[in-house]
Amino acid sequence: MADVQVHDKVFTPFIHQETIQECVAALALQISADFAGKKPLLIGILNGSFIFAADLFRQLTIEAEISFVKLNSYKGIASSGNISTTMGLEENLQDRHVIIVEDILDTGRTLNAFIPELSLQQPASLSIAALLTKPSALLFDIKANYIGFEIDNKFVIGYGLDYDGLGRNLPALYVLKDQ
Ligand code: IMP
Ligand code: MG
Repeated sequence: MADVQVHDKVFTPFIHQETIQECVAALALQISADFAGKKPLLIGILNGSFIFAADLFRQLTIEAEISFVKLNSYKGIASSGNISTTMGLEENLQDRHVIIVEDILDTGRTLNAFIPELSLQQPASLSIAALLTKPSALLFDIKANYIGFEIDNKFVIGYGLDYDGLGRNLPALYVLKDQ
């Protein structure tokens, strides 16, 4: 696999497409086992999670629903610190088993702001599935229940993740070169 240039930066291959697919299949198997008969509601955080959420959801073998919200915290390659909701949730979460689907748990700021909002509706359970986590970047007490890959504190793109809007359609994950 070759390096790719996105805007002004060069990214190098990081996690292969096949490895991601195997990982997502394993997560789907585990979630299907844990939530059998519970009809969970997956909530994907847009935009970054849309590909992961679609692949994960497609591989669930149980009854499940999916919905999306749009939250924003990133500008360029750094978390801005301000979370805004630009597309809210329409479902009633009371007594539902909710699984938040995130592309990457970085500082945890997004979910730290979003989880209390969800909890107000008293779901039966609240879990987090994150394709990627950056444990050394985490600033809040948030733990994902389902994790694809733990990675170093480096900026990555591909498989839904972007650098200023671009790179989401790369089928594999790439990491910023010489970071
Ligand atoms: P947090 O609020 O700091 O946990 O950041 C969460 C969001 O920031 C993720 O859902 C991503 O959309 C974005 N993000 C964090 N790290 C990266 C990265 O390395 N590449 C692309 N987007 C990222
Ligand atoms: Mg995101």
